[in-house]
Amino acid sequence: MKTIDVCLSPDLMHLYNVRDKTVVVVDILRATSCMTTAFAHGIESITPFAKLEECLAMKAHGYFTAGERDGKKVDGFDFGNSPFEYMHESLKGKNIAFTTTNGTQAMVKADGAREIIVGSFLNLSSVEAYLRNGANNVLVICAGWKGKVNLEDTLFAGALVELLKDHIEPDCDAPLAAQHLYNLAKNKLFDFLKDSSHVKRLNRLNIQKDIEYCLTTNLYSVVPVLHNGKLVIA
Ligand code: MLT
Repeated sequence: MKTIDVCLSPDLMHLYNVRDKTVVVVDILRATSCMTTAFAHGIESITPFAKLEECLAMKAHGYFTAGERDGKKVDGFDFGNSPFEYMHESLKGKNIAFTTTNGTQAMVKADGAREIIVGSFLNLSSVEAYLRNGANNVLVICAGWKGKVNLEDTLFAGALVELLKDHIEPDCDAPLAAQHLYNLAKNKLFDFLKDSSHVKRLNRLNIQKDIEYCLTTNLYSVVPVLHNGKLVIA
């Protein structure tokens, strides 16, 4: 049987070998939810960057730039990190260069994996089917917050472990812990997360509607995959 493991923080990545794995990068609030939304609304590609300057420089190559630090849009960038910004007709067929505090950092750190895909509650079922039908062992990388573990990414990892339990077996204790947590929370995700650190941070920025949206399950069927440094639809 194939295996699934969960890396609860990008700072633990040195413990995992990604070479033979399909890596699912998850940053529920909000980077990977934005990416899923953007592809569902017709974006051509998203190129993830760790550094603000490198991302901003892509403007000169005809890219839209999207950037967030500590949840706030960065000066000089075209877009911030609210999924509602990625629903506009005008973005259809366009290329975006994207940098976020944790989500794109995790993606860059996963470099060298056999395959890197984007997961969120918005495309949960499609990601689950993709992993079930794929040939590779799976590693879910939770973006967390500046190296610290967070609840929402762990819950998403647990959802995948739970949904895949008849096809892919947990490789260690982190997937089991995530699965137990998800089973506790699955019928009340929003409530379960109300005291979590990033929900409190986003509440201070007055963006509760982003949180509710990002916790919506199976709104889209797209699975973004990294190809030559660019995310495109699988
Ligand atoms: C991140 O990448 O850390 C998040 O997406 C931050 C945010 O919610 O803007």
